[in-house]
Amino acid sequence: GKVTFDYSKALGFVREEEMAAFKERVKLCHGMLQNGTGLGSDYVGWVDLPDAYDREEFGRIKAAAEKIKSQADVLIVVGIGGSYLGARAAIEMLCHNFHNELARDKRSGAKVYFAGHNISSTYLKNLLDMVEGQDICINVISKSGTTTEPALAFRVLKEYMEKKYGEKGAAERIYATTDRSRGALKQLADEEGYETFVVPDDIGGRYSVLTPVGLLPMAAAGINIDEVMDGAKAAYDYLAVDVLEDNGAYQYAVLRNLFYNKGKTVEVLVNYEPSLSYLGEWYKQLFGESEGKDKKGIFPASMNFTTDLHSMGQYMQDGRRNLFETVLNIEESREEMVVKENKDNLDGLNYLGGKTLDFVNKKAMEGTLAAHVDGGVPNMVINIAEASPYCFGYLVYFMMKACGLSGYLLGVNPFDQPGVEAYKSNMFRLLGKP
Ligand code: PA5
Repeated sequence: GKVTFDYSKALGFVREEEMAAFKERVKLCHGMLQNGTGLGSDYVGWVDLPDAYDREEFGRIKAAAEKIKSQADVLIVVGIGGSYLGARAAIEMLCHNFHNELARDKRSGAKVYFAGHNISSTYLKNLLDMVEGQDICINVISKSGTTTEPALAFRVLKEYMEKKYGEKGAAERIYATTDRSRGALKQLADEEGYETFVVPDDIGGRYSVLTPVGLLPMAAAGINIDEVMDGAKAAYDYLAVDVLEDNGAYQYAVLRNLFYNKGKTVEVLVNYEPSLSYLGEWYKQLFGESEGKDKKGIFPASMNFTTDLHSMGQYMQDGRRNLFETVLNIEESREEMVVKENKDNLDGLNYLGGKTLDFVNKKAMEGTLAAHVDGGVPNMVINIAEASPYCFGYLVYFMMKACGLSGYLLGVNPFDQPGVEAYKSNMFRLLGKP
């Protein structure tokens, strides 16, 4: 596959026999995922999705994306958590690093900004200041249709749109992604006549990146979502085997559990491309919400290297040894830049003359990896051939498969999130919600 898992640098910390001892449990947990016989089995719709997704709706997503591109310069995506992070991770990974700042003819699709992922009035007001004078579409995304943050932001944005385009004009520019039949957003969308897309019942927020939740914003930004689904389908085929030796996602899940049991309770997902920083945010939600319950679970963290080697590098090398590291390695950089020879060599960099920046970046990665392993931090590597839609589709499916299995190995329900209610009920009480 174009995404491969390499745990050779972790072998100083676990023995192959320890891994092999998991073989039967992996088969068991695989069956639970695949056949929907485990905890939370109402929410395993994502497992077959790359094969079974709704083609009619997929066509509608592409058509809506084209319409958005023709209607607007700016798409504001309103959502939080699982209704936000997947699209953002994809757009950051796959579009130009400065997509939103580029002139129209230099970017693949609409500019995409996000709202409803916080309750900051300053953020929302500043967003409105910034889009002044530009044509706008909105994709409001909420599976439940009742989440406070996006509902509040949407109330403000809807009014803004209606003032700008009139009620009917606004309705033609607002797209809603929500439950098939339930929830306040579905009712509102039907009454206002918005085009709607469905979050399937059997797919929870953090597993929804390959549904319209992720796909519509991606397509509007100009990402080829056929290729995203092709990559996901390849992962689906490749990772459908229950044999540990042949399934990279399951090897990753097993190693995570082995490290956890050895007291390595923090996983740091590391990248060497700033465009992967939101993939780290997506991963933290996926694993944190899936495994952090019943007073257990690995604490998922993420770092952007080499940036954070100048801040967190000290801790990684020398701090408390409760960490392991998973490195996202983009094998082929999208752009190349060569270091030129320079007559004076005042900066002393001529020894790199003729080398690419990516070559230097890869040496930084190799050097860091070896240093951290020497410092007692097990390292695993996920090799990604390139930052392409295909590899994105493959990678997110790989991660979700690993996460589902990892949760079952840990003995938790990887598909619920009872803990996220506690802050809400306090907040609602303080707000006097009827
Ligand atoms: O993973 C989850 O279920 C959550 O993060 C939700 O995605 C998030 O709370 C948003 O929920 P909703 O889409 O219902 O607005």
